[in-house]
Amino acid sequence: MDCKTLDLAEQVAIHWLPIDDLEHCLLPEEHSAIAHAALKRRREFASGRVAARSALNALAVNDTGAIGVGPERAPQWPAHTVGSISHSRGLAIAAASRSARYRGLGIDIEERGRLKTDLISAILTDREQEELTDLDPTLPFCAKEAAYKLLQPLLGHFIGFQEMEFTPLAESGRFSLRHVGDKPGVALVNAARGYYRPLEDCWLTVVTLDA
Ligand SMILES: CC(C)(COP(=O)(O)OP(=O)(O)OC[C@H]1O[C@@H](n2cnc3c(N)ncnc32)[C@H](O)[C@@H]1OP(=O)(O)O)[C@@H](O)C(=O)NCCC(=O)NCCS
Repeated sequence: MDCKTLDLAEQVAIHWLPIDDLEHCLLPEEHSAIAHAALKRRREFASGRVAARSALNALAVNDTGAIGVGPERAPQWPAHTVGSISHSRGLAIAAASRSARYRGLGIDIEERGRLKTDLISAILTDREQEELTDLDPTLPFCAKEAAYKLLQPLLGHFIGFQEMEFTPLAESGRFSLRHVGDKPGVALVNAARGYYRPLEDCWLTVVTLDA
């Protein structure tokens, strides 16, 4: 299965494909992780693993082994690599890089315009609601989900949507995130770099943290 590729962040392989019946591509350990799940979930999981393996192959990591399911559902990447997976709207996407270059990566895709008005106050801080009035609120939502996938495996605890704020940067397609509050470790996000672009009818966000 050939994946399409995107060049968004330095030394990050981003590969994506339409979600399909790719369960036969899973390794036994991966298969057993979702053997009892519904068909839709098995397909998105398998397509995400295919995108992840393709991204790793682009880094010349050819014998990837199983990309297992770790604590809190985080994918378990091969030694010396970091990565992240997302699926939405019939697409599966993965980002991968070398751990010598990045301490962590997060990726997310969300249908543009999907965040409903009644959820905005839970996802955006008061300041974001005041200042980001020209922006689809789905974009900061997508950015925070990507940041969660980067940070949660490093910190080992939950991070809420009110614990960081999104700022679009003057350089097109870039954003920063700022820690709000005092939960240990979340301040790491201040040093992260954020990238976004539309992908089909979704927002794609990638968050990177240097090694
Ligand atoms: C975990 C979560 C981020 C997943 O996002 P989603 O938009 O629902 O689903 P996506 O398809 O984009 O992502 C799912 C993939 O994320 C990855 N993922 C799940 N939990 C993860 C974790 N703890 N750490 C890293 N990656 C994780 C997995 O690869 C998963 O796919 P897989 O199970 O097929 O391997 C989301 O469900 C969640 O719990 N969010 C609440 C916390 C949060 O986002 N806070 C934001 C403020 S920082």
